[in-house]
Amino acid sequence: MTLEPCSHHGKSPPCADAIVAAGVSTVVSALEDPNPEVAGTGHARLRAAGISVRSGVGALEAARVHAGHCCRITENRPAVTLKLAISADGKVGRAGRRPIAITAERARDRVHRLRAMHDAVAIGIGTALADDPLLTCRLPGMDRRSPIRVVVDSELRLPLGGRLAASAGEFPLWILASETASPDREASLRARGAEIMRLPTAAPGRLELRAAMHLLAQRGITRVLLEGGPILAAAMLAENLVEEAALFHSEMTIGPDGLDALEGMPLSALTGSPPFQCVDREMLGPDRLDTFVRA
Ligand SMILES: NC(=O)c1ccc[n+]([C@@H]2O[C@H](COP(=O)([O-])OP(=O)(O)OC[C@H]3O[C@@H](n4cnc5c(N)ncnc54)[C@H](OP(=O)(O)O)[C@@H]3O)[C@@H](O)[C@H]2O)c1
Repeated sequence: MTLEPCSHHGKSPPCADAIVAAGVSTVVSALEDPNPEVAGTGHARLRAAGISVRSGVGALEAARVHAGHCCRITENRPAVTLKLAISADGKVGRAGRRPIAITAERARDRVHRLRAMHDAVAIGIGTALADDPLLTCRLPGMDRRSPIRVVVDSELRLPLGGRLAASAGEFPLWILASETASPDREASLRARGAEIMRLPTAAPGRLELRAAMHLLAQRGITRVLLEGGPILAAAMLAENLVEEAALFHSEMTIGPDGLDALEGMPLSALTGSPPFQCVDREMLGPDRLDTFVRA
């Protein structure tokens, strides 16, 4: 089992009781459930019934699978995967924040697969203004697996005619804004189908990101794919709100005036030191995907 069987009555009776009743002799389990209603009591119930229990097998892999559940229980927020496409010279965009395609088709397909594996995809308004992205999953037949699109936009600057607002009636769009952003802008974006959620600010133009994550958790989001630019990516890392990073490396170079991957911090803050460790490396055509996980 990848997670300890539960020992309490929730929507269904305790799984541990069902295992005992089934006459199982040995249980191999990866992870103790951090839910205080379980927290070891599921394993204990099995042992009390004479079942041999080995726990902790494949714990790192299981922690990745259950990151959403574990973050919700322990920190009341979703687990966050940071995605960045990075040029060979360590850049994620061109000077002047002009858009550029850094990776090739296979890597882009993988990003769409990642979208389908997360409940929400989040960007900052800087990325919305620069790239005008749609943020849906456009793999064949998978558009219904598109995540909820979230824009961190304290002053509600999202263009009404952009692709995000224009598609809000079809694919959910949540905009996180400050308590002081214009009510008229809110009304116009709502008319397009977007939902506006107000949050306190930590500084001018800087929404409280931990509060933002709590809000998403309250709305049922357990996994967020962070596809924002260097400002939001660095801010989320600085707040310890990132569990995993999917770094797509390309052979293209952008040049010294390009945008660094993380605003005000070297990429090595993520790749070069604990708590993150590289757990997987995969070639995707000309590009390479490195996956880092917080230990
Ligand atoms: N290669 C890649 O993987 C990749 C991915 C995404 C973007 N990009 C590139 O990155 C560039 C855009 O980057 P960016 O850094 O300007 O955009 P961003 O990180 O997506 O958005 C930053 C904006 O988010 C808002 N924000 C609100 N609260 C915040 C908080 N607590 N912390 C941080 N930001 C907060 C701020 O605008 P307000 O003050 O108005 O709220 C801030 O300026 C473009 O060139 C784009 O092409 C590259």
